[in-house]
This record gives sequence, structure tokens and C-alpha cells, in this order.
Amino acid sequence: MKAIISPSILSADLKNLGSQVRVAQEGGADEIHVDVMDGNFVPNITFGPEIVRACKDSCDLPIDVHLMIVEPEKHLKNFIDAGAGTVTIHYETCPHIHRSLQSIRELGAKAGLTFNPGTPVDGLNYLTDVVDQVLIMSVNPGFGGQKFIPSVLDKISLVKWILEESGSEAIIQVDGGISVETILEVYQAGARNFVAGTAVFRHPEGISAGIAALRAALG
Ligand code: DX5
Ligand code: ZN
Repeated sequence: MKAIISPSILSADLKNLGSQVRVAQEGGADEIHVDVMDGNFVPNITFGPEIVRACKDSCDLPIDVHLMIVEPEKHLKNFIDAGAGTVTIHYETCPHIHRSLQSIRELGAKAGLTFNPGTPVDGLNYLTDVVDQVLIMSVNPGFGGQKFIPSVLDKISLVKWILEESGSEAIIQVDGGISVETILEVYQAGARNFVAGTAVFRHPEGISAGIAALRAALG
């Protein structure tokens, strides 16, 4: 399948969010990634549902919402009502993760499950029936512009194997440090959805050039 490029607005020029998102669409982005941080699960604080709505209203792309918050169950409906097409929750934040993933689907969105770099993915074996997307974090979440952690490559291959064995068609997404230097090996390990903040919104020649460079690096 074609690689999905998911620009993260964490690195966008927020003074001009609507136009930045539209330029990303015109430049060939497949969806828009919104990083929601609560200053609790992660040190940083970012966006709420109204920013999801602003992105949704500014372009025609699906909105991919990454919840880096404690007790995400309390906020699923708000984010989905605001326009989230996919909602990804952290394995580390949910004691009843199977139920939380089911809730996302029942509310009408695709269910994403993510694992921090230091979290084993064994639990995925018991969740393949309720996930549409598995996000492997390739940095510790909280900030853009961090360095890719190479040990996640083996983890991506393991996740690919678990999904194939179970017959799941969930897609593997990777988030953190995706660049022209790293994207090909991540693709080769089995990922098909690439979140990129710095490489797209901070590309010196502009957003479209950033997306084009990532696609070119995939060959
Ligand atoms: C990190 C976020 C990422 C971040 C990626 O906590 O989940 O989505 O925006 O940024 P880059 O692509 O700059 O590593
Ligand atoms: Zn993210």
C-alpha cells in the first residue's frame, strides 16, 4: 500500500493554522496529525478539541488525533464530535484498554493504540480485534524535533508479525524523528503511516517540499 504521510501540527506556524493545513493538503499530505498533551502524562501542554475542529474545518483530510493524556476515556466523545477520524490512545494510560478502544469505534472513529519506546508490545496480542492502527512511538512523547530511537525498528517488525498472525488489517504508524534519513528503514520494517512534524512544517523550502522529500526518500 501507498505510504500515508501525516504531518503533525505541533511544528506548524499556529498563527496561520488554517492555511498551513491547507498547504499540507495541496502538498500531498494524507491526513493531519494533532498531538494532544496534558502536562501530566507528558510534560508539555498543547491542544484540545477546538483545534481539532479548526483543522477539520480548514481542509478535506482526515484528522488523526494522538491523545497523550491521562484518563483519555473521559474525552473521546469530545474529540470525535470535533472531527477526529482516528483517535489513538496510549497503552500506558488505560487500565481497561480493550474497553477504551471499543469505545472509540462505537463513537464512530478508527481506534489507534500506541506504545512508548520503553513499553513492550506483548499486550497487542490481546487487542488485535479492537485496533485499526498501531502507533509505535520512536521518541519519548512530549516534544517535536527529537532524535529517532533505532531500537523501535525491531519492535515495528514484531508488531507487523503479531498483526499478520492474528489476521488483523491494522496499519502500523510511527511517530517521532521521521525524516529523509529515517523514513525508508521504518517503511522497510513494516510501517505504512508516517507522522512528521519538523520534517514537514519546518522544512526550509516549505511544507510541500517537506512532504515531497519524504516521498522521494521512500523511492
Ligand atoms: C511527539 C509527538 C509527535 C511530534 C513529532 O510527542 O507525538 O507527533 O510532533 O515531531 P517530529 O516529527 O518533529 O519528531
Ligand atoms: Zn504524535
